[in-house]
Amino acid sequence: MCGIVALVGSREASPILLESLKKLEYRGYDSSGLATVSIDANTQKGFISCRKAKGKLQNLLNLIQQDASPGHVGIGHTRWATHGKPEKKNAHPHLDTKGKVAVVQNGIIENHSLLRSQLEAKGIKFRSDTDTEVIPHLISEELYRLNKEGHEIGGLLLQLAVQKVLDVLKGSYALAVIWDEIPNVLIVAKSKAPLLIGFGEGEFLCASDTPAFSGFTKTILPLEDKELALITPLGVEIYDSFGNRKLRAPKLISGYESDADKGKFRHFMLKEIFEQPETAELWLTRYLPNGLPIESPVAFPFENSFYDSIEEIQILACGTSRHASMVGAYLLEQFAGIPAKVFFASEFRYAPPPLAPNVLTIGVTQSGETADTLAALAMEHERRSAYNNKDFASRQLGITNRGESSLSRQISHVIDIGAGLEVGVAATKTFLGQLLTFYGLAIMFASRRNSRSLKEIAELCDLLRCLPKQLVNLISEHNLLTEKLSHKFSSTKDVIFIGRGINYPIALEAALKLKEISYIHAQGYPAGELKHGPIALLDQTVPVISIANEGIVFEKVLSNAQEAKARDACLIGIAPKLPETDIFDHLLPIPRTSEWISPLLSVIPSQLLSYHIAARLGLDVDQPRNLAKSVTVE
Ligand code: M6R
Repeated sequence: MCGIVALVGSREASPILLESLKKLEYRGYDSSGLATVSIDANTQKGFISCRKAKGKLQNLLNLIQQDASPGHVGIGHTRWATHGKPEKKNAHPHLDTKGKVAVVQNGIIENHSLLRSQLEAKGIKFRSDTDTEVIPHLISEELYRLNKEGHEIGGLLLQLAVQKVLDVLKGSYALAVIWDEIPNVLIVAKSKAPLLIGFGEGEFLCASDTPAFSGFTKTILPLEDKELALITPLGVEIYDSFGNRKLRAPKLISGYESDADKGKFRHFMLKEIFEQPETAELWLTRYLPNGLPIESPVAFPFENSFYDSIEEIQILACGTSRHASMVGAYLLEQFAGIPAKVFFASEFRYAPPPLAPNVLTIGVTQSGETADTLAALAMEHERRSAYNNKDFASRQLGITNRGESSLSRQISHVIDIGAGLEVGVAATKTFLGQLLTFYGLAIMFASRRNSRSLKEIAELCDLLRCLPKQLVNLISEHNLLTEKLSHKFSSTKDVIFIGRGINYPIALEAALKLKEISYIHAQGYPAGELKHGPIALLDQTVPVISIANEGIVFEKVLSNAQEAKARDACLIGIAPKLPETDIFDHLLPIPRTSEWISPLLSVIPSQLLSYHIAARLGLDVDQPRNLAKSVTVE
C-alpha cells in the first residue's frame, strides 16, 4: 500500500505535495515524509531537504510549518508499514549515504535482503529497516559508476542509473527519485503498483491514485508496468525498460471523489452506513431501471451475448469483497443455476484449480487496486491465453467502486458499483453495492439460461426496488438499538457470529467488521459447524450473534442458536420478530422478507453494532490501527 506523490512545479512543492498526500492517506497512515530539492543561494548547488514524522499526516504538516522544506521539485509518501515498524527512521523518503539521492516507493522489493547484504559488504550503513532503502544506495552507486565511465551529469545519467537499478529489483514498485545534482528533474517508474502522471499548467504531479490530483488537473497519464518517466518543467518523456522512447497521450478523467465531509456524523463510517439507501437508489436507477423488458431487466454495460456459453464462474476477491462474492456465488448457483466458486485471491494465484472450459472469472475489489486480486486475475488471464484454445479463452469481469483504477485498466469488462467515495477503512456501502451487483448478475444469468421463470425474476426485481425505503427505516431504528446494546460489550474479548445459507457470508462479514474496528476477536461460522468444535469456546463471556431469516434454514439456525444458549452464551439475534425468535436475549429485528434479499438487510445491524462498540471504546473507527483502505502489496 502506501501513497506516493511527486512534483515538478513552478511553485513551492511542499504545500502541493502535502495537499495531495492528504488525499492518499487512506492508503496508509502510520508515518509520512517528503523531500524537496532546491538550490543553495550561496554555493549555487542543489541540496535535498527531507522531513519525516511518525503517525498521522498531521504530524508532518505540523513539522513542516515549523521547519519548511524549500524547492519546486519534491517527492512525498504516506506509509503502511511492510518492512520495519512504523517509526520515523522507516518513514520515506529514503536517502543514499551522502543525502544526494532521495526515493519514495510503494510496493515490496522481494530481493531486498540479498541487495542489502551486498551493499553492507561494501561498507554502506543502513539507517532504516525498510526494503526501500536499498534503492537510493544502488542508484547512488550506479550514478558514480556511470559518471566515471564518462556519462555527463544530467537527466540521461539519472535515467540510466535508475533503469540499471530497476533491472535488479524483484517484486513490485511505484517509485519517485530526485537527485540534488539536477534539481529540475524527477524520475518515476512502476511495476505492479499504480502510478499516474498529472499534467498541470507548467507543472507535473505524479501520484498513486486520482484523488491526489483534485484541484490540480484532470489530464492524466497512467504509467504502464516497466515504464519509466523523466519529468522536467519542459515535459514528460516516457521510456520502456530498454530505454526506447514511448509516445503516449494523456487522457481526461471525468472527476474526483475526494472532497469528503463528515457532515453531522461523528465518523465517516457512520455516515457511509447511513448513505446506503442512496447507494441502493443510485444502483437501481443505473442498473435496474423501470421499463426494461423482463427478459433482460439489468442494464449492465455489455452485450446480452456476454452471458452466453458460460458454464462456470470463479470469483476472486479479498476481505469484505470476498464475503460479498460468497453471497454472489450463492445467488448465481441457487437462483441462476450456474456453478460458481469463490477463491481467496491471494491463494488462487499460487494454487489455481485445473483449467475448465467456458469459465467466467470475476474479480471483485472496491478499490480496484488490491494487489492480490489484480495479480490473481492477471495470472488467470495469462495461463488461459497461453493455452490457446477458444473454449478455454480468458473471459474476465471486474466489479469495483473505482472506475479510474488499476482494475479498470487491466480488464475490459467492468461494472462500476457507483457507491461514491468511501472514506472509512471498513467497507460498508461498497459491500452493499457489490451485493447488488451480484443480484444483477444472478438475474441476468437466470433470464439468459431460463433457470427461473419470468415471474420469479420479476419478483426479485420488485423486492430489490423496495430496498432503499426499507434501508432508511432499518438504519435509523438500528442506530438506536445497537448504540444501546454496545454498552454490553465494554469488556467483551470474543464474539461468535453464526449464519447459514445465503446469510453465512454475512456472519463472516459481521465478524470481520467487528474485529477491524473494535479489535475484539470475532469469528463467523456456518451455524451447523458450531457443534463441531467452536462450541468448546462458549461460556457466559462469549456472546453468540445469530443471523436467522425465514427460509430453508430458519429453524436449523434457531436450533444451533439454542445449542449456544444451553452453554450459557448470551444470545443475540439478527432476525425477524416472531414467537420463534423469543429465544434471543436481545433481538435486533429485521423486517420479514424473502430469504433471497435477506443479506441486504441483515448486514445493517451488524455494521451498526460494530460501529457503536468501537466508537464507545473511543477507537479510531475510520482509520483503525494496522489497516489501509487500499492494499496494494501482496
Ligand atoms: O479494495 P478491496 O475490496 O479489494 O479490498 C479488499 C479488502 O482489503 C477489504 O475488503 C478489507 O477487508 C476491508 N478493510 C474491509 O472492511
